[in-house]
Amino acid sequence: MANRFQLPNLGLGVGLRSPHFGYILENKPSVDWFEIISENFMDCRGYPRAILEQIRESYPTVMHGVSMSIGSTEPLNFDYLKKLKILANEISPEWISDHLCWTGIAGLNTHDLLPMPLTEEALAHTVERIKTVQDFLERPLVLENPSTYLEFEVSTMNDWEFLGRMAEEADCGILLDVNNIYVCARNHGWDADQYIRSIPADRIVQFHLAGHEDCGTHIIDTHNTHVIDEVWELYRMAHQHVGQDGASTLLEWDADLPEFPVLMDEVAKAKNFMGQSRGESASVPGSSNGLPKKGSRHSFPHPPHFIPAE
Ligand SMILES: [Fe+2]
Repeated sequence: MANRFQLPNLGLGVGLRSPHFGYILENKPSVDWFEIISENFMDCRGYPRAILEQIRESYPTVMHGVSMSIGSTEPLNFDYLKKLKILANEISPEWISDHLCWTGIAGLNTHDLLPMPLTEEALAHTVERIKTVQDFLERPLVLENPSTYLEFEVSTMNDWEFLGRMAEEADCGILLDVNNIYVCARNHGWDADQYIRSIPADRIVQFHLAGHEDCGTHIIDTHNTHVIDEVWELYRMAHQHVGQDGASTLLEWDADLPEFPVLMDEVAKAKNFMGQSRGESASVPGSSNGLPKKGSRHSFPHPPHFIPAE
């Protein structure tokens, strides 16, 4: 068991999306587990819940949320948390995750994962809220590093320091999204190697992999295409950082959804990167070390003038 919470390594999973319901029920694909978007099942008891109940009979599931707004300065939404807990009690997920972010203000949900100012004040605030949520849910919370498109001038620490300290001080788990690290490294000129090496390995419960859109001067985390070679390389490093027991790995693909077997092929590539020593070539066709030459191996030049998309 690699993580301190004794949460299992579920293997290689795929995000459960409604266009694939029929294929999954009919073909029982050999994926190890599914991650659901919590909000898609919290307020419904119709067709999606009936499908979920059938899928749960054959596969472990994890609940992944997008609306907890753990970093917000507004009070925690206990109506939301109650619904989350009810769903968890009903479907018994392996764990519950959400994002290190805030998602709205004045009672409005923007449905965006908005970036945090990385300050001591924000850290203490977030840690207290995580403790409250964990006490309420009666289980550890697992939080993901989001993709970001701007940085705050008031920040006094980097992303990985905030994430690591948050996990230690709140005693929560980390969902390390390797693609998000790559996106942030390109958008902000961060060192992706250092990011991964700095994360406390025993806090990492799960990895995310996804594709993105490279706009040249910046990257947008679109989840609409294949994982690129550089992200696979970072995944190899992250997997080695966790150690031989590994951590559950999940492919996210949310837009321009392909047929389910395409997702299976994509997630199967992860096996090529498990247990390989750093510097060896991956066996994925077309894989190459296409990393930028400047700076350290996975550091990227800061974009000259990046304007957030919204
Ligand atoms: Fe993710």
